[in-house]
Amino acid sequence: MLRNTIKLSYYPLPAKPGEDRIQDKERYSVLKVCIIGSGGREHAIAQKLAESPHRPELWAVPGNAGIAQIATCVPLKATDVEGVVALATSERFDLVVVTPDDPLAIGMVDALQAAGIRAFGPNKAAARIESSKAFAKELMKKYGIPTANCEIFSDYEKAKAYVQAAEMPLVVKADGLALGKGVLICNTREETLNALELIMIKRAFGDAGDTVVVEEFISGPEVSVLAFVSGETLKPMVSAQDHKRALDGDKGLNTGGMGCFAPSPKYTKEIADIVEETIMRPTLKAMIQEGCPFSGVLYFGLMLTKDGPKVLEYNARFGDPETQVILPLMKTDLLDVLLAVADGKLAETPVEFMDSAAICVVLASGGYPEKYETGFLIDGLSGVPGDIRIYHAGTKLEAGAFKTAGGRVLGVTGLGPDIAAARGQVYSAIEGITFDRMHCRLDIGIK
Ligand code: AMP
Ligand code: GLY
Repeated sequence: MLRNTIKLSYYPLPAKPGEDRIQDKERYSVLKVCIIGSGGREHAIAQKLAESPHRPELWAVPGNAGIAQIATCVPLKATDVEGVVALATSERFDLVVVTPDDPLAIGMVDALQAAGIRAFGPNKAAARIESSKAFAKELMKKYGIPTANCEIFSDYEKAKAYVQAAEMPLVVKADGLALGKGVLICNTREETLNALELIMIKRAFGDAGDTVVVEEFISGPEVSVLAFVSGETLKPMVSAQDHKRALDGDKGLNTGGMGCFAPSPKYTKEIADIVEETIMRPTLKAMIQEGCPFSGVLYFGLMLTKDGPKVLEYNARFGDPETQVILPLMKTDLLDVLLAVADGKLAETPVEFMDSAAICVVLASGGYPEKYETGFLIDGLSGVPGDIRIYHAGTKLEAGAFKTAGGRVLGVTGLGPDIAAARGQVYSAIEGITFDRMHCRLDIGIK
């Protein structure tokens, strides 16, 4: 009764044995939500949850200095499954949002659910869609989902023999998680053979390279489309475009992402319909057929080729920095959607986005993604206009001041009626933020 009046009947927690629910009403009146992870993406999720009308009590493992402004951060590793289950049990979290790829791949969601804790994210079997490229490619082949043609090898000699007779260029991919570095684009036979040797013999990515995918090179614009998924229910988010290279004009080394904008003008309604029909729904059905229905956020990394949209990769989670532009555009309460997915009720929950645009520019430490220094004072944060969102990725708080503590330091997100307007907002806000050796791309949102 009482819980109905405070609109919590939808999220009841079982009482612990011997406990009286009514006496426990104080505890039930606030939802406790814990986010696993420590980047700009997790800060964007935490911030969106902090804006929820449910006013949840936020926790993070391990979180970061930005997240610590709005959540209780617990210094456990994001991959500490036992530690997270113990914390979730003792603190009686209503929801744990497992965000990064590695805890998903090792089964953190399975462990939480086994302990009776509601978790958002795919279980270990479903997370294979990201954690094993061979699994993803075989799934696409079996169910006719458009992707680059490929061969899969666990035997180095066989892989070498194949490459010696194949047409170039080729793309060589380590099967497992490799911090986003396991994809090598090879223009010549020699480069391809070197890539095989690097992954399979020199084991540059460890076990992740026990199996390799050797793939046809395809071309076209890239777009990321994330969707909330629960079994067969699909609720796509706005499309986004990531900028992975360190320098303007897509030059320099690959990074974790230097910026992003949403929506992508190339992802038209017509293309979205084709993608839903030929890629998204078939993927959800395939996962069900394979006995591992997906639940969580499914990220479709797409290439819009002249033969139609094709899958480059799947991720089993929110993207970084895509999340930093997608969530600020979300109209629906994120907490309602996360709970609905975790409870298998997504079909009944609308998911809506604004018609506006957003861009996020990453402020990085000079030298990133190679060698860089940290510990520099970040100046100007308090002068940033209120409608600009600052997401911390690599900062620390020392004596009341934020200092740099990572390669990617901050993500600065702005909204506007279109990308040009959002871009203007963000770059003018960035002019007021400084730290020694700060580097950012100046062309996010121009392409
Ligand atoms: P992935 O981690 O699989 O998304 O690959 C990283 C990047 O490599 C993609 O964003 C593409 O730019 C590129 N890439 C991956 N696979 C291919 C392919 N088959 N053909 C051309 N480029 C590719
Ligand atoms: N932005 C790509 C990723 O999150 O993997």
